[in-house]
Amino acid sequence: MTSIVEYMTSQHRFCDNSFAAAEIAVSEKNWSEAEKQWGVFRRDLEIHLINEEETLFPAFEQISGNAAGPPAVMRMEHLQMRGMVESMTEALQAKAADGYLNLSETLMILMQQHNMKEEQMLYPMTQQMLPDTAAVISSMNDL
Ligand SMILES: [Fe+2]
Ligand SMILES: [Fe+2]
Repeated sequence: MTSIVEYMTSQHRFCDNSFAAAEIAVSEKNWSEAEKQWGVFRRDLEIHLINEEETLFPAFEQISGNAAGPPAVMRMEHLQMRGMVESMTEALQAKAADGYLNLSETLMILMQQHNMKEEQMLYPMTQQMLPDTAAVISSMNDL
């Protein structure tokens, strides 16, 4: 059976793949490929963030009885990530390769740090605390 750690971590890897492919395409100024990969990334990232915000974090908060815990920090970082994604979409539409790549580097660091906190702390904690992880996983959307 898939664990929460495995399920959510594999969604991070899906997002990493299209993010990296978009970055390579922009650096090669292959705009149609960049747009395609960026579209995949944006879609997958949004599904993943919503899985966390609407299903995983509420389950964690309900069990832990702590509304000001780790999920609150994660939600704030999601806002930052969404803001950067919007700026990068604008850079891509303007075919501004340098601007895009600068933002891409910053977002990659932000996402790496964010994902590490989830994979090493939040997901394992949720996995341990939740009585029925299969139900939580089945109510989330696959990428
Ligand atoms: Fe997250
Ligand atoms: Fe995540």
